[in-house]
Amino acid sequence: MFCRLTRVTHSMSKRVYLETMGCQMNKLDSELVLGQLCRLGYAPTDDFRRADLVLLNTCSVRQHAEDKVYSRLGEVARIKRERPEMVVGVIGCMAERDHQGIQRKAPHVDLLCGPGNLNQIGDLLAEVLDTRQRAIALEHDRSRRTPKDRRTLEHDSIESLDLSRTAPPDGNVLQAYVRVQRGCDKFCTYCVVPYTRGPERSRPPANIVDEVRKLADMGTREVTLLGQTVNSYLYAENGRTVRFADLLERVHEVGGIERIRFVTSYPGDFTDDILQAMRDLPKVCEYLSLPAQSGSNAVLRRMRRDYTAEQYLELVDKARRMVPGISLSSDFIVGFSGETEEDHQATLALIERIRYKNIFMFKYSNRPNTKADRVLPDDVPYRVKQRRHSELMALQHRLSIEHHRAMIGRRVEVLVEGPSKPALKARQAVEAGKVKTSRRADQLTGHTRGDEIVVFAGPDSLIGRFVTVEVTDASPLTLQGMLAGGPGVSPIR
Ligand code: SAH
Ligand code: SF4
Ligand code: F3S
Repeated sequence: MFCRLTRVTHSMSKRVYLETMGCQMNKLDSELVLGQLCRLGYAPTDDFRRADLVLLNTCSVRQHAEDKVYSRLGEVARIKRERPEMVVGVIGCMAERDHQGIQRKAPHVDLLCGPGNLNQIGDLLAEVLDTRQRAIALEHDRSRRTPKDRRTLEHDSIESLDLSRTAPPDGNVLQAYVRVQRGCDKFCTYCVVPYTRGPERSRPPANIVDEVRKLADMGTREVTLLGQTVNSYLYAENGRTVRFADLLERVHEVGGIERIRFVTSYPGDFTDDILQAMRDLPKVCEYLSLPAQSGSNAVLRRMRRDYTAEQYLELVDKARRMVPGISLSSDFIVGFSGETEEDHQATLALIERIRYKNIFMFKYSNRPNTKADRVLPDDVPYRVKQRRHSELMALQHRLSIEHHRAMIGRRVEVLVEGPSKPALKARQAVEAGKVKTSRRADQLTGHTRGDEIVVFAGPDSLIGRFVTVEVTDASPLTLQGMLAGGPGVSPIR
């Protein structure tokens, strides 16, 4: 293996184009893969037309996500006809789910690698370059739940590579994702993830803490612990069980880390000890991503989410009592099999009652070989899905404005991440000589502990620091503010 890697290392000027679709898991995987490739001598490029290696890190959660991959593969095929030496790879969830379809429909794909095999990416690449044959690494098909005693991840995948956690290629070390769990065993009837990401396995706490420490040494201040049902984390260690709340405590002890978040929580497994940890551990942010999926018990039953709307509401009430000021986010699917107008109204009522900070809403997309695909008809017409989707959007738009407006006048802690998007554009315009100055050029942005986005004017020297901002105005997506205390404000940490 060593020889193969060194051989690739000699190609110092090679360019890799890596496009990421899908969730935070994929974003993290892409960062780790890119880290590997940079070590092998590849430099990232934004233009697939000029790349030596094109990798698509794919998502299978909805049909639309897969359609996008085929359309990109079509564009890449045209380039590869002119430059056959270009290597094309499909990695991630779709490679795992539909490797046969991809090989059939896109024969120019040289490399296929599932999300559980990304530690082999260097080897696969070397194999393609050596043999000019297609290289494939996938986990095995699975359709059953893993027994509880086998849910412990003895061998990390890509994270186990010694050097895997160096500074990310884009240089942004301030915030980082850390995987604590792989896969999912819930088998919600609509969902493809248990098939693409494999069985639920928790990572050893010592490895997680080591990685967090490494990140803190590099300058990371905020970590987001990742798992599909992160709160179900469970690890057997020397005859003791480490639960998610225990893990939060251990991560909390790492010096240099100032904020801890975690996504995504499964409502059915949410225990009080996690709320206690959120209340008692100052670094754990008052933010919870708690997908409800529907407000109707009939729909929740068909989805095989093992909670009722009432239990969900009770959990949210408890969270609000125990963690004052907590801000909530959720996912909803509209138009799932058999969803009636009444079911839809129940979802709207639940959203109105909870008043989320934000929600993500999706039109139900039937996924091949899921339980729903086998036994539940995709019977809500597309235009009905569309209308219900728009109704959720309109409702949440109003609630997000109200949520943000209620914060006007308050002082919030912001981790300053960098210039805002308009500021970057304004700076480019000034540099290009299009304008002399721009008021927007000094606009900075960052997130609050509750995950609200804040923009405010300030010097770049504040980037990477925690500051207090007074909220002066609000829109559905952002808060506008002023550094509290005026110029020369002292960061609160
Ligand atoms: N593990 C997380 C989410 C994983 S997928 C959880 O359980 O909450 C992200 C979101 O995509 C889900 O929350 C769900 O709202 C949506 N989703 C999953 N499968 C879908 C499908 N077949 N059609 C439409 N949306 C889907
Ligand atoms: Fe999919 Fe359900 Fe697992 Fe979430 S909990 S990843 S929705 S099966
Ligand atoms: Fe998509 Fe895979 Fe994430 S299917 S949502 S990229 S786990």
